[in-house]
Amino acid sequence: MFIDRKFPKTRLRRLRANANIAELIAESSLSQTDLIQPLFVKEKLVGTEAIESMPGISRYSEDSILKEIEEVLETGIKSIALFPVIDKTKKDSSGKEATNKSNLICNSIRKIKDRFPEIIIIADVALDPYTDHGHDGLLVNGYVDNDLTLDILKSQSLVLAEAGADILAPSDMMDGRIGNIREALEDADYKNTILLSYAAKYNSKFYGPFRDAVSSANNLGSSSKSSYQMSSHNKNEALHEVALDINEGADIVMVKPGMPYLDIISLIKETFKIPTFAYQVSGEYSMLKLAIDKGWLDNDVMLESLISFKRAGADAILTYAAKEISKEIKLK
Ligand code: PBG
Repeated sequence: MFIDRKFPKTRLRRLRANANIAELIAESSLSQTDLIQPLFVKEKLVGTEAIESMPGISRYSEDSILKEIEEVLETGIKSIALFPVIDKTKKDSSGKEATNKSNLICNSIRKIKDRFPEIIIIADVALDPYTDHGHDGLLVNGYVDNDLTLDILKSQSLVLAEAGADILAPSDMMDGRIGNIREALEDADYKNTILLSYAAKYNSKFYGPFRDAVSSANNLGSSSKSSYQMSSHNKNEALHEVALDINEGADIVMVKPGMPYLDIISLIKETFKIPTFAYQVSGEYSMLKLAIDKGWLDNDVMLESLISFKRAGADAILTYAAKEISKEIKLK
């Protein structure tokens, strides 16, 4: 391909000589419309509450979240992903609060949609914020039972769709859940509800701060999610997961975590050429943010990390830094 183009005919530095020319030839870029802001909404909270393990990120009450969303939208972002922090007393072994039509998340979705009808709301489908053991499904003899969990995920999906979620994002990693949920949505006439499958979700230690944020860390204790989330050793298996989810009715697939799994994003995008999202998870965010706050890393590492997702092939990115980065892009 480049056989005959030798120095000095070819000087790659010509196209790096100034920012304007560099921008003209840029192969990837990041804009507000690529960003999704995850937000934590907490029951019974008054105002906001900082999350210690996620610098700059807070939990919001059902009211204070509206103000935050207004600010997020002002930066040009159009989508949010909502995560509930429910009252301890509502957690049980079956996570049945997840299927309550008037639970925290459903009420929040309605309030948010009422105020910001155009916003895209992504709602997680999984039981971990609702179970007293912190797992994403129902435990039978200490093992997360796949098929029993599917039933409750279906009900959870229907209440979320009814509340007005635009996108349902199953993050539980049960087998067959996309097909099950898709069928339930079709039957209930939610034909345009989008399924964003956390198709390649790895069993990762990078989720630590998130589990603090939704207070599931204590519940989970030393128990691991390795019997349902993928092993970080595997790559072909991610293709298998994605192929199944596409066949079962997923509209978009997601890779999670992000930066340690850029190879997976790239492989999935190259192979299937379907909408592919990436999640820069809590641990990735906190590592960078803490080092930035300490002055050990320049602020621009956050943007650089997000560009790496775009370069790998991600169409959109969930990142806790969305609002901040969106403001920075606007200024550039
Ligand atoms: C729940 C869920 C998790 C995250 C998103 N949805 C945690 C987990 O699987 O334990 C992690 C997000 C993050 O770390 O930012 N199923």
